Amino acid sequence: MPSWDHEDCDPAIDFEHTRLYRMMDRLEPIILEGQQDTAVRRAIDILSRRMTEHFRIEEELFTTADWDSRTVMKDDHRRLLTMLKALSDIPPADADARRSLFTSFLEALQRHDSDVDAPLFRMHH
Ligand SMILES: [Fe+2]
Ligand SMILES: [Fe+2]
Repeated sequence: MPSWDHEDCDPAIDFEHTRLYRMMDRLEPIILEGQQDTAVRRAIDILSRRMTEHFRIEEELFTTADWDSRTVMKDDHRRLLTMLKALSDIPPADADARRSLFTSFLEALQRHDSDVDAPLFRMHH
């Protein structure tokens, strides 16, 4: 389970990630272990919408003129959303494929946090 634990970040970004992962804590067991197709589908749908919102917030808060970093961030966000789209396209009966893709998504998200978000939103003293 990913968590946000990075020093010296913009407080608005800290807060947004804390909120995001609180929601993820509730959705993760449903997406991994859920027995009801409708509940699983709804959890993936809620997560996709929340992640879209999360990335929009970050891209709005990242108001620097550093266009290269901005491009890296946006490309990464697009890739992560593509994974969620693929997740929602997996037939409900294929729980193994869903678990495996969702686990990869969480790993990719964790990497994105530590390699992209945390350094880009570090406070400069
Ligand atoms: Fe983020
Ligand atoms: Fe991000």
